[in-house]
Amino acid sequence: MKRYAHIIGWGKYAPENVLTNDDLSRMVDTSDEWIRTRTGIQTRHIVGEGETTATMGLRAAQAALEVANVTPDQIDLIIVATASPDYPTPATACLVQDALGATRAGAFDLAAGCSGFVYGLSVASGLIEAGTYDTILVIGAETISHAIDWSDRGTCVLFGDGAGAVVLQASESPGGVLASVMGADGSGAELLYVPAGGCRRPTSADTVAQGLHFLRMEGRPVFRFAVNIMPRASRLVCERAGLSLDDIELFIPHQANERIIQASARALKIPAERMFTNLERYGNTSAASIPIALCEAVEAGLIRRGDHLVLVGFGAGLTWAAAAVQWSMPWPVPTRPWWRTTLRWLYYRWASLRSWTLRTLRRMDTQIRKPFSHDAENGDQQPHKEDSTK
Ligand code: UT7
Repeated sequence: MKRYAHIIGWGKYAPENVLTNDDLSRMVDTSDEWIRTRTGIQTRHIVGEGETTATMGLRAAQAALEVANVTPDQIDLIIVATASPDYPTPATACLVQDALGATRAGAFDLAAGCSGFVYGLSVASGLIEAGTYDTILVIGAETISHAIDWSDRGTCVLFGDGAGAVVLQASESPGGVLASVMGADGSGAELLYVPAGGCRRPTSADTVAQGLHFLRMEGRPVFRFAVNIMPRASRLVCERAGLSLDDIELFIPHQANERIIQASARALKIPAERMFTNLERYGNTSAASIPIALCEAVEAGLIRRGDHLVLVGFGAGLTWAAAAVQWSMPWPVPTRPWWRTTLRWLYYRWASLRSWTLRTLRRMDTQIRKPFSHDAENGDQQPHKEDSTK
């Protein structure tokens, strides 16, 4: 029996702190008028104290699980698409897995810039269709604000923080993710990148002094790339799904720049209203932009059961990706009985306690073993010495 990957839950999170164009005009040489006319952005959200990519991803994931009516122990895999992980290693997906108490789930991060969420959707739907997994959580989450040079007006006005998530689940009913495309052109890697902090240029006092840990972007070539690739990827994914552009009720494009979205609509010869935008309130939240936009489009009642959507993104890499989706969920979502919400709340409290206990046991284990490792260093315990001379 053929399997289909349906989106059965969605959720988003945006930090409370809001940064306006006027706030930015007090920080760098810019103006509300320039930012609005060149990008369409009016405000963006910026993380507050204690908020990270993992904490925002967790909040979006919890909201998506609530809509899906799925408990964390039912999740087989967690994919976090991000360009701004909590740590260089381990994966932010593991932090989300732990905080959710998703005890059966594998977890990994996916680095495909702003296309990351659609890449994640493509990978997850393939695994579901192949029968490898039944339930996958795909999150796009970003704390881009920490990689921004707040004195560079060319980048600091564009980006914002946030997270969005979907739950994908196997079903034998046709629908869900119908087709996807992923593409890359690494010759454009340096058009949008963080020069230092990787093995090519490890972090040092010198790289920090030169500001090489901040995001650098050449806006114009990225713009040209975007207006070319968005319509191409959209056409290709429709072709693969056996749909025409007229069959698509709503396009959910990456929210980078209103001019890019309008130019894509013109190239596709579709009315601008069929391109969903919310970048005026969020700015470019990179891998989080498409899932946040998807959530808002659903919540605004713009997507009905049976509708066809195209999710299309581009970004650092350079990368691009598109997915054609047939929506299969009702809106509004039926209200869950109170006890289900209580159970969920209790589950998350248990997950925190479990995480704390495991971390404490690990610390204690390390303390107990310390004296032995000290003896070994002094030559009192040399169990491997003989072996090594054989
Ligand atoms: O997720 C993918 C991420 N990136 C993107 O999607 C970015 C794609 N690129 C863009 O969206 C646009 O290229 C930008 C919004 C970044 C820039 O818009 P633009 O129309 O391409 O402007 P520009 O770079 O050609 O700059 C025009 C002028 C320049 O001044 P001069 O040289 O003409 O005197 C800039 O210095 O605007 C100046 N400028 C600004 N002025 C006020 C650049 N940034 C600002 C600013 N405020 N924030």
